[in-house]
Amino acid sequence: MFDLTGRTAFVSGAGQSVGEGIAKVLARQGASVIVNDLHADRAEKVAAAIIEEGNRAVAAPFDVTDYDATRDSMRAAEAELGGQVNIVVNNAGVAEGRMIKPFRDLAPAEWRAPIDLNIFGAMNCIKAAIDGMCDAGWGRIVQISSGSARTGQNINQTMYATGKSGIEGFIRHLAAETGQYGVTANIVALGHQKNLEDKMPAEMIDAILRTIPIGRLGDPIEVGAFCAYLASDEAGGITGQTLDFNGGSQTR
Ligand SMILES: NC(=O)c1ccc[n+]([C@@H]2O[C@H](COP(=O)([O-])OP(=O)(O)OC[C@H]3O[C@@H](n4cnc5c(N)ncnc54)[C@H](O)[C@@H]3O)[C@@H](O)[C@H]2O)c1
Repeated sequence: MFDLTGRTAFVSGAGQSVGEGIAKVLARQGASVIVNDLHADRAEKVAAAIIEEGNRAVAAPFDVTDYDATRDSMRAAEAELGGQVNIVVNNAGVAEGRMIKPFRDLAPAEWRAPIDLNIFGAMNCIKAAIDGMCDAGWGRIVQISSGSARTGQNINQTMYATGKSGIEGFIRHLAAETGQYGVTANIVALGHQKNLEDKMPAEMIDAILRTIPIGRLGDPIEVGAFCAYLASDEAGGITGQTLDFNGGSQTR
């Protein structure tokens, strides 16, 4: 079950945290994995760790908001791995220098980065692979999103949530277009993940934990396992869905 042998997966922003977990699990299930990240050292480290485990990977450092770089790097990585991308996981979603400010304090020039990354970055990766998947009659797209796309929260993240909401709408429509070609597209809406422990003070983490029924933060390997399922043959009947991965959090 959930065997990905012979598949070629592309994971954006896979140089650390959630994306690293996704790339590792897809590789453990048999896929050859293209490990993308903006930072070459991160992508190379994760690709090397996957190879160390006896699985197949190649590092592909580039900025997903640049379509030409996305297309050209994906083709080069495919040539290296000897397979066409048929699984796309759009994980990159936290823009460099992320702004955590109320909307009133954001200048118009600060609105774009999270929207560019979450909407255009994700569309670029899909665009670079979609024709190959549709022509082959099989493909899997997994969009990593956030509960904040569907719930108003006082967390100074209006633009991030705008990007996530926008790409969720895109994925639902895309799924309706591509189902006839055997290409599914689903959204995994994450709640709070383990790597927040490195980014937030302990009191804030404690407050978050009180809102999560399972009493702990999400684990990248668990997110990877969910993505591996959605990328498998067995998940061919699921498309256009938003699936929450949040430990039962009511705030999403
Ligand atoms: N961590 C959480 O609690 C949480 C909660 C909800 C949703 N998410 C979503 O999960 C995904 C992963 O989040 P994370 O916390 O692991 O992020 P992270 O910041 O720890 O890692 C993301 C990686 O993406 C890379 N990246 C950024 N911009 C890029 C670009 N333009 N091109 C290529 N790579 C780029 C970064 O270099 C980084 O290595 C994101 O989509 C995020 O919105 C995370």
